[in-house]
Amino acid sequence: MFDHYLSVTDLSRPATEALLKRSQDLKHEWHRGGHPAPVLQGKTLALVFEKPSLRTRVAFEAGMTQLGGYGSYLSANDIDMGGRESVPDVARNLSRWVQAIAARVFKHATVEELARYATVPVINALSDYEHPCQALADALTILEHRGTLEGIHLAYVGDGNNVCHSLMLLGSLLGIHIRVACPAEHRPHPDLAARAERLVAEHGGSLRITTVPAEAVEGADAVYTDVWASMGQEHEASRRRLIFQSYQVNAALLARARPDALVMHCLPAHRGEEITADVLEGPQSVVFDQAENRLHVQKALLLTLLNVSQ
Ligand code: CP
Ligand code: NVA
Repeated sequence: MFDHYLSVTDLSRPATEALLKRSQDLKHEWHRGGHPAPVLQGKTLALVFEKPSLRTRVAFEAGMTQLGGYGSYLSANDIDMGGRESVPDVARNLSRWVQAIAARVFKHATVEELARYATVPVINALSDYEHPCQALADALTILEHRGTLEGIHLAYVGDGNNVCHSLMLLGSLLGIHIRVACPAEHRPHPDLAARAERLVAEHGGSLRITTVPAEAVEGADAVYTDVWASMGQEHEASRRRLIFQSYQVNAALLARARPDALVMHCLPAHRGEEITADVLEGPQSVVFDQAENRLHVQKALLLTLLNVSQ
């Protein structure tokens, strides 16, 4: 039996907490210069990417190498999923050769279709709806810097997009207080917000969605933002710059958070748009810790989905 990881809610709270603990162990081993046992020797992860990537791709490829396995990168030019070959056929072919598939897709329905037809675990490496691997790295980063997740006040300012969605769900699962500030026409999807509300009721955090950045950021332990135009929305960039201009994370907005609030961004960043350069490069920024943690959480995720104990 195998599981997919298309949404952060595909792992329960205890399983997610165990994954974060495992990520920390892998990280400590990595920083000690230790070499993990090659537990994934002979195993291959297919990386089916319809969009560009630095962090997700390299973290999966390096992670597979470090665990003794191999990551096989397949760009849209290589396989043209849905064009040259249908999604179900790609899933069924890959399942005959590899032990897991990580897919970065335009439409969330594509990663769901891959999972429906694959007979190996499928990981959502970013869709238009969620970015669960990013949220895991973000949770690990907050945990490291704050020592806990429960009761933490996390403010997200900007587009109610894939990154925002996964943060909302993971935060609600882990007892975090989430405050989201988005323009009215770019709020998180209502179905997703309803799912997050149900998790909040079960796990004790809270969720508030507003259009006012200052309200979200007031007293926050961490302030998070992401690009205003995601991959695939580049043609909307100039219109979005107007809509989002009062949602910039800058020194004045950050001053409303706790003095030691973490500054977070999934990267890549557009300095001078969603975040100013001084804030991104400032002493409160943990953006490269977030990036590093992609490696550790994605290794832990692979080991979890492949049922490998070390
Ligand atoms: N944050 C993130 O997913 O980066 P990439 O798009 O470079 O993978
Ligand atoms: N929201 C961004 C995240 C990039 C990592 C996008 O989808 O392009």
